[in-house]
Amino acid sequence: MIGIVLGSGLGLLAEAVEVEREVSFGEAGLPTSSVPGHAGTFVFGSLHGTPVILMKGRVHLYEGHGAREITAGIRWMAAQGVQKIVLTNAAGTLNPAFAPGSWMMLSDHLNLTGTSPLVGADFIDLSVAYDADWRANFRAQALALKIPLHEGVYAGLRGPQYETPAEIRMLHTLGADAVGMSTVLETIQARSLGLPVVAFSCLTNWAAGITGETLNHHEVLQTGKQAADVMIQLLTTTLGDSANPR
Ligand code: HPA
Repeated sequence: MIGIVLGSGLGLLAEAVEVEREVSFGEAGLPTSSVPGHAGTFVFGSLHGTPVILMKGRVHLYEGHGAREITAGIRWMAAQGVQKIVLTNAAGTLNPAFAPGSWMMLSDHLNLTGTSPLVGADFIDLSVAYDADWRANFRAQALALKIPLHEGVYAGLRGPQYETPAEIRMLHTLGADAVGMSTVLETIQARSLGLPVVAFSCLTNWAAGITGETLNHHEVLQTGKQAADVMIQLLTTTLGDSANPR
């Protein structure tokens, strides 16, 4: 069974799933999200015959929750028997070659949240945070489907304010291609449970200062909705077909 976390505006992915039952975050004992566009339920079902749990909506550090709370969904899905995790998010792009509206598969991340879900627990290796074999499957499938799929480094910040142009220049210097406010702690949690992870950023906007435009949450949600289609296609074909690195 595969756990799939849906980011801002990507709830449409749920429409590709044959639903068996739903469990609300409340029923699962999880904190609920207050942000529009982040409905909180787990959807059990199948995607092209592959059993999945969709985590629709997630909670964020910027809502005032701690690192343990925002990763509770990953632990809950693992307890339900999920063996692999797909994370999706909305992110700003700071790579001039990665235009808004396209997708980036994470090759690596920068955890700039200042925290970890593992505080007080073990040391874990993150040399390969995002599963190499699984990424190769997605890369091949995207090529076959002619879906542009960038690969790059995601910087995860706490938010909720978007970045300043100076911060974006700093992130560029640090090697980031995209910036967002989720994902990194979920990856750390999943890896500490031994679950392979792949993650995808829907690049919803140019990061601050790259064009003259200002950023807003509405634009992020709209772009996410428009880009959801190709990710549905990529996930259904890749997860449906092959995709069992072990
Ligand atoms: N910055 C941070 N988070 C985001 C952005 C951004 O530009 N776009 C969508 N999520």
